[in-house]
Amino acid sequence: MNKEEIIKKIKELKRRKGAVILVHNYQRGEVQDIADFIGDSLELSKIAQKMDCRIIVFCGVRFMAETAKILSPGKKVLLTRKEAGCPMADMITKDALKKLKEKYPGTKVVSYVNTNADVKAESDVCCTSANAVEVVRNMETEKIIFVPDRNLASYVAMSLPDKEIIPYNGYCYVHERISREDITKARKDHPDAKVIVHPECRAEVVQIADMVASTGGMVKFARESTSKEFIIGTEEGIIHRLRKENPEKKFYPISPLPVCRDMKLTTLEDVYTCLKEEKYEVEIEESIIESARKALEKMLQYTKS
Ligand code: 13P
Ligand code: SF4
Repeated sequence: MNKEEIIKKIKELKRRKGAVILVHNYQRGEVQDIADFIGDSLELSKIAQKMDCRIIVFCGVRFMAETAKILSPGKKVLLTRKEAGCPMADMITKDALKKLKEKYPGTKVVSYVNTNADVKAESDVCCTSANAVEVVRNMETEKIIFVPDRNLASYVAMSLPDKEIIPYNGYCYVHERISREDITKARKDHPDAKVIVHPECRAEVVQIADMVASTGGMVKFARESTSKEFIIGTEEGIIHRLRKENPEKKFYPISPLPVCRDMKLTTLEDVYTCLKEEKYEVEIEESIIESARKALEKMLQYTKS
């Protein structure tokens, strides 16, 4: 089958099966182009909860599909590639979190949405990169355990000096590689461009950027900014969307090109197979869904926008 035929089949199957395709901003361009909804982790989790459909096809990584399942347990949630995970999410286990809780008894736990479902179930509140500062600000307690991303934890701590953040030592290998030197070089090449970076970048990178935002925040900033050029400090997949939505503006990936291997696994063929064979279904134990949902719902309560 050629590309057009696959797209036609995907559309037919979607209609016939009552399915909706949710796509993360880092996915391949060809997958972004067939999305019913495209967005960041927060936007996609809200949409998954609201959608009136039988099946959700998730083009992203496992923790995102799990979040959709936890918030919509009555729907069949399919992940296009079963091995698509997030190495940062795998850096913390439920047992490691339990140990940390024992070390700081009574301290509330905020877990980044980039965690596995059983870790969410051990947490008080979840957050995404879009609302981490807002969630922590709105919590009554001053001392907070923040897992697993040490860089997002440091960004939250920088933004909220009155809070005491106890970080875990996890990180995203894609964002960790972005350096101050990359920004300096990109600025030299494009002196008029605004530098936007993801809060998963290291503190020294975040400190010299013009803007720090989730992928959804980057889309909004690029759309609303009067600037015409942008240097993008996150996974390169988002540049497809930024260029498509803002043809009159210029977007430059920060160098070297940041690529998330897991985000790039899903192809158009995978979306077709996923819909046709209704695989790979996300299955989570009922008790974990119950506890993890409380942490996710609390996150949504703490988030205004
Ligand atoms: P966003 O929530 O900003 O889309 O980020 C998800 C992610 O995995 C970043 O690496
Ligand atoms: Fe995980 Fe980093 Fe990939 Fe995001 S970009 S899914 S944090 S490995």
